[in-house]
Amino acid sequence: MEFAGKSALVTGAAGGIGISLVRRLRAAGARVAVADRLTEGIEAEAHLAGDLLDPVYTDALPQRAADALGGLDIVVNNAGVITRGAVTETTDQDMALSMGVNVEAPFRICRAAIPIMASAGGGTIVNTASCWGLRPGPKHAVYCMTKAAIASLTQCMGMDHAHQGIRINAVCPNEVNTPMLRSGFAKRGFDPDTAVAELGQTVPLGRIAEPEDIADVILFLASDASRYVCGALLEVNGGKPVS
Ligand SMILES: NC(=O)c1ccc[n+]([C@@H]2O[C@H](COP(=O)([O-])OP(=O)(O)OC[C@H]3O[C@@H](n4cnc5c(N)ncnc54)[C@H](O)[C@@H]3O)[C@@H](O)[C@H]2O)c1
Repeated sequence: MEFAGKSALVTGAAGGIGISLVRRLRAAGARVAVADRLTEGIEAEAHLAGDLLDPVYTDALPQRAADALGGLDIVVNNAGVITRGAVTETTDQDMALSMGVNVEAPFRICRAAIPIMASAGGGTIVNTASCWGLRPGPKHAVYCMTKAAIASLTQCMGMDHAHQGIRINAVCPNEVNTPMLRSGFAKRGFDPDTAVAELGQTVPLGRIAEPEDIADVILFLASDASRYVCGALLEVNGGKPVS
């Protein structure tokens, strides 16, 4: 896939999937603006560090990326947080954090990016949902709900903005070997390497996803190879259903 001359904004760029995605986009020729709480040390054409819970920062990100890169062809709303537990174990803070990062931030970024892309003749947006937003999973009620929300928003935006030449899709991974998953194991007292290996046994392909497995699918959705894919929720799960 060729991204020469393309400009991309990636949120969650310092995370497991984000790091891999930024590397791959740049290796394929894209100019990339990276957004995360801290972006030092990430090789990129523009660093736009900040907190996605701050609406002033989030509303401004697409224009700042376009100004820094000389245009905005691709946005990847990849940042996310996971809160665990049934609703009875979910605090107000968990709810606000999950909604803020997983739903409100991508909403604000899409709302600001779409007019920029439309005025330039089009673009692509890839949101990161989850298999856990397509079907219910145990003990992650609010996380699943937020991923269902971004999945639905993606389908609606995919319809609403196709006529402007903007394709909006979502990638829906199951388990991925990133700090998000590994820190959860560590918090619960498991050795992350052992837990990841054991979890791999539950996947028909024999292993959980590595960040590169997801980044490659995001690249596909961002590229012209997916030019007729619009409003899609693409499951990337190694054959494993939510259980
Ligand atoms: N790891 C998995 O098993 C898995 C499965 C399905 C979907 N996902 C989704 O993939 C995406 C990437 O996840 P990952 O596994 O790479 O996780 P990660 O925790 O490694 O990375 C997430 C990144 O988002 C950033 N972020 C979180 N809150 C932020 C805020 N308020 N402001 C700015 N940046 C913020 C973090 O700093 C971090 O760098 C997320 O949307 C996640 O929900 C992950």
